[in-house]
Amino acid sequence: MTTSLPRIFSGVQPTGNLHLGNYLGALRNWVKLQHDHECLFCVVDQHAITTWQDPAELHRATLEVAAAMVACGIDAGKHIVFNQSAVPGHAQLAWIFNCVARIGWMNRMTQFKDKAGKDRENASLGLLAYPSLMAADILVYRATHVPVGDDQKQHLELTRDIAAKFNNDFSARIGDLGLGVEMQAGDETVNGFFPLTEPLIDGPATRVMSLRDGTKKMSKSDPSDLSRINLTDDEDAISKKIRKAKTDPEPLPSGLDGLKGRPEAENLVGIYAALAGISRERVMAEFGGQQFSVFKPALADLAVEKLAPIAAEMRRISDDRAYVDAVLRDGGERAGAIAERTMKDVREIIGLLGD
Ligand code: TYM
Repeated sequence: MTTSLPRIFSGVQPTGNLHLGNYLGALRNWVKLQHDHECLFCVVDQHAITTWQDPAELHRATLEVAAAMVACGIDAGKHIVFNQSAVPGHAQLAWIFNCVARIGWMNRMTQFKDKAGKDRENASLGLLAYPSLMAADILVYRATHVPVGDDQKQHLELTRDIAAKFNNDFSARIGDLGLGVEMQAGDETVNGFFPLTEPLIDGPATRVMSLRDGTKKMSKSDPSDLSRINLTDDEDAISKKIRKAKTDPEPLPSGLDGLKGRPEAENLVGIYAALAGISRERVMAEFGGQQFSVFKPALADLAVEKLAPIAAEMRRISDDRAYVDAVLRDGGERAGAIAERTMKDVREIIGLLGD
């Protein structure tokens, strides 16, 4: 019996523009984690097609997200950057998880309800099974930790439920084959094939809100481009969007408690703290009592300082198509080798004949 080592997996959909929420909630944390973990970062193109995507745009966005990962500081030589459809194990394991997970589990997912809207019967079957593919992304590498923004929490709980049910359904067989790994489940030490993955939801900006409405998440699909700062925005666009960000007429309060009920102010303070790498308390100590006419220009300067170099680097890397192709090809090969080892064991556990 072995003990599972920490391994990080996370993913981004190649749909629309990457924005400040993706950066502060996910990518930036990945860059920190890569120093002391083995990491896989994936452009999840098969998740993207659970809703309609224009093929040429999907292709373009897949390359752009890979370039963004490298531009943000992911070391693609040391770690693995790849696109999901390059590794068949994701879809293969997702099918098996479709047979382990229950329909009721999927029906309860708030993201499915939001995305499917009122016309659920007409949503793709893939959209309903989305979390099962997400569990497969993570577990085909037996990843132990998944750094994400707050909106992915429910999907990661489901990933644990799927892993636990698989481990339990096949526990005798896993034991007979000697494929179990010792792991911690709450206070208990249990033995299973798939780890019970921990979410890493970290920092002052795990849920960045729209710049036009502090009660709505900043999102790729918001029709208003003013609602988000795209990672490709230039200095003028970044400054303009912060200048135009919705606020209330009051000055900033002197303490964090005063932010309650003021979602736009709270959001901008969180963004400042995350970009500056300081606590929200320190932001309040510096700007408490000041007007937005003072705070917004300081935030715009900080955002330009931190984000404009990433946009420039993204353009430089995206222009070198051969390099991006090589990163994805190499990443896909290395990821594929790990996934295939897992799938071989999974087929044996389940009793599938395979090849
Ligand atoms: P996606 O593509 O919507 O977002 C990518 C990452 O960005 C985070 N994020 C945010 N964080 C803070 N504030 C926001 N406004 C904000 N918007 C997005 C997301 O939490 C995410 O970490 N289902 C996933 C992709 C995925 C995945 C996986 C993630 C597929 N398989 C396996 C982790 C592990 C998604 O749609 O992310």
